[in-house]
Amino acid sequence: MEVIIQPHQEAAADLVARVVACELRANPHLVLGLATGRTMEHVYQRLVQKHREQKLDFSLCTTFNLDEYVGLPPADPNSYRHYMDDHLFRHVNIDPRNTHLPNGVAEDLDRECELYEKAILRFGGIDLQLLGIGKAGHIGFNEPLSALRSRTRVKALTPVTLAQNAAQFGGEKKMPRRAITMGVGTILESRRCILLATGADKADILARAIEGPLTGMVSATALQLHPRCTVVVDEAAAAKLTEVDYYRWIFENEPEWREYRMLEHALET
Ligand code: F6R
Repeated sequence: MEVIIQPHQEAAADLVARVVACELRANPHLVLGLATGRTMEHVYQRLVQKHREQKLDFSLCTTFNLDEYVGLPPADPNSYRHYMDDHLFRHVNIDPRNTHLPNGVAEDLDRECELYEKAILRFGGIDLQLLGIGKAGHIGFNEPLSALRSRTRVKALTPVTLAQNAAQFGGEKKMPRRAITMGVGTILESRRCILLATGADKADILARAIEGPLTGMVSATALQLHPRCTVVVDEAAAAKLTEVDYYRWIFENEPEWREYRMLEHALET
C-alpha cells in the first residue's frame, strides 16, 4: 500500500482522475471498477472535463460498480445507476451496454450476485478499482465483520452508514436497509486499486484502515493485503496518520509519481 498526500480535496481528486485517464489511455479496453458517493463526484467531474477537453476516450472501456441499493430501480434518483448516469456515463462516450451495476430489484438477489461475479470474470477481471471509504470503514458496502474473502452478496447497512447517507434520502427511515455489494475478496482481486478519502471526518477511520491492524471490523484494512493499492488523501483526511513523512517522501521522490509532481508544480506556478 502507498499513501499519497495532497494539499486539498481538489488536488486529491485531480490526481485520481489523472491516474484513471493515464490507465485508460494506456489500455483503451480498461475494465474499470467504480464507486459512488460525494468524494467520487469530484473525480467524475474531472473525467468528464478530460473527455471534453482532451478527448479522453471511453468507447472501449467497460465498467463495474461496487454496489447498488436493494429495492431501488435504476430510474430512482437515489439509485447508484442514476448517480452514475448523472455524474459520468451520459457525459462521456461510454457504451451504456459496457456499464454494469448490480440490479437492486432483481427477483432472485443471490442469483444476481452470482451473475455479477461471473460477468466480472467474463471481462477478465477488474484492471483498476476506484474506492471510497465510509465512516464505518467500509469499502463498497462491506460493513464491519464482512468476511475478508467475501464475494458479491447482499449486505445489511450499519447504523453508521445509514446516518452517513440518510440526508440524500430525506431521512434514515426512507433509506433502503440493504445493498448488493462486491465482496472484500472481489475487490482484492482487482489488479490495481485506488482509494480516495478527503475531509476531516474521514481522518479517524482512515488512520485505522491504513495504519491499524488487519480486522474484519474495518473492511478497508483488507487493502493492506492488496499488492498494488494507492490511497490518495488530502491534508485533512491525513491528520491522524503517523508516518506522514515517509508518505510525503514517496510522492516527492518515487519515479512513478514524477509526472504527477511536475504537473502539480506547473499548476502552482
Ligand atoms: C459507494 C461506496 C462507498 C462510498 C463511501 C464513501 O459506491 O462504495 O463505499 O465510497 O461510503 O462515501 P462518501 O464519498 O459519500 O463519503
